[in-house]
Amino acid sequence: MAFSRRLFLKQTAAVAGALAMPKTNHTAHSQTTARPVLDLKGVAAFVDPLPIPPVAQSSGTKPVPGRASLHMPYYRIAMRQFQTKVHRDLQSTRLWGFEGGSPGPTLETRSGQGMLVEWANDLPQAHFLPIDHGIHGAEKDKPDVRAVVHLHGGKVGPESDGYPEDWYTPGKSATYFYPNEQDAAMLWYHDHTLGINRLNVFAGLFGVYLIRDKVEEALDLPRGRYEIPLVICDRMFDKDAQLYYPVSEDPHGVWISEFAGDAFLVNGKLLPYLEVEPRKYRFRVLNASNSRFFDLKLSNGQEFHQIGSDQGLLPAPVPLKDLQLAPAERADLIVDFAGRAGEQIILKNESFQVLQFRVAKLAVAPEKPLPATLRSVARIAESSAIRTRELALVEVDDQIARPMQMLLNNARWHDPITEKPLLDSVEIWSLINTSDDSHPIHLHLVKFQVLDRRNFERFAYTSKGVLRYLGPVTPPDPNEMGWKDTVTAPAGMVTRIIVRFEGFTGRYVWHCHILEHEDNEMMRPYDVVPAK
Ligand code: C2O
Ligand code: CU
Ligand code: CU
Repeated sequence: MAFSRRLFLKQTAAVAGALAMPKTNHTAHSQTTARPVLDLKGVAAFVDPLPIPPVAQSSGTKPVPGRASLHMPYYRIAMRQFQTKVHRDLQSTRLWGFEGGSPGPTLETRSGQGMLVEWANDLPQAHFLPIDHGIHGAEKDKPDVRAVVHLHGGKVGPESDGYPEDWYTPGKSATYFYPNEQDAAMLWYHDHTLGINRLNVFAGLFGVYLIRDKVEEALDLPRGRYEIPLVICDRMFDKDAQLYYPVSEDPHGVWISEFAGDAFLVNGKLLPYLEVEPRKYRFRVLNASNSRFFDLKLSNGQEFHQIGSDQGLLPAPVPLKDLQLAPAERADLIVDFAGRAGEQIILKNESFQVLQFRVAKLAVAPEKPLPATLRSVARIAESSAIRTRELALVEVDDQIARPMQMLLNNARWHDPITEKPLLDSVEIWSLINTSDDSHPIHLHLVKFQVLDRRNFERFAYTSKGVLRYLGPVTPPDPNEMGWKDTVTAPAGMVTRIIVRFEGFTGRYVWHCHILEHEDNEMMRPYDVVPAK
């Protein structure tokens, strides 16, 4: 019997109407809404067509820095503030995005075809979201507006990875080299600035990055207008249709431990619709939310198939009726609308409406069934691991320093580096979640496999450091049997992943992808070191 991650997701309840206070896991420090928020009941659903972000065009080639003989397609993509209508009936909303869009333009390439991207910071001088200067890395001596772009899931050299301290101010830019020596997958780019990442991403600094390859092409999956990215995130708006990021009333600062909004944006639109034909579609789904775990389903209860996860195709299609997706996770879905001509089907997240599919009254020639197998994913043998690291996920309720901090192994960002895997070695990381929250844990540079999850005795571990398992081992879900870069580590469980540290040596990070946690110390640097 497949194991359901949903059991662990302590979902923020739907707060409709006055929706003053979406619940968080931490009631004592929950977000508060000082301003009245937009009541979505008065907003017409499904009046705007779903926008599709444009595919970025390169403006010629340039030499790779430090490797003058190597020329690569070059893109310049600027971060800017812009105004957009997220809904037909609402005033324009101020957002930050890339080239005037949020999501920004989709970068698309082939496996093995590198590219250079100059990420230019053309943002204004003032931030429009509440910075907490008590957060490490966001002190008053730092400029409010700073940005640095990370390619999430990219196997990228450290100088191009968007290290959180490599931020730069308006007027500056950084040119990064992406080798794309990796399998076809949906990656995404987003801001990664230390201390304000949650605000920069919330403001809209993210976009899609697709890598293609021959294995994927041979499968003859829906493509062109039948392949559609769905970048989904939750937000909250004020009465003037401006983004609203709540603040804490805690005397220590305005930081909130999690964000939950009632307004779902898909590709930047609120409650859009998509006209589809009665045939198969491929949807590339990204959970771009700050904190929210998704549980997506179709209103007619229809089954669909997941064919890929974070780092590419699964070994075989996995039939699903609902899809759990943690922040930063991706799912490659095939939804078949055959036989549904004339129907209106709603994509829902729990009780929230997200997107409406309008199936055209059309006759479509029958299509081939989905391939039974997709891509072989060789399991990494546990015996190949040269070490196992026990890494605790900890929430500290320290009323003196900060209301709440989330830590990895009780260490803070600036503490000495403790994870130094050898290049090309395999390690098992046991993520021991002592907290009451699920944390989506992400490692830069690498792809990994999920080994298993298991309950453990929290008190024995937190008081004596003794890891005592309770109950049986739970294997990964079928849709976790591919390559991953982000994994849900549920509360009270040990989640084991197996990783080969390959590609580059140098400094990277690993962190919780709940951006509020990441900003408040739940992120650590790690070094891949040369094996001598
Ligand atoms: Cu989505 Cu550290 O990244
Ligand atoms: Cu990443
Ligand atoms: Cu977390």
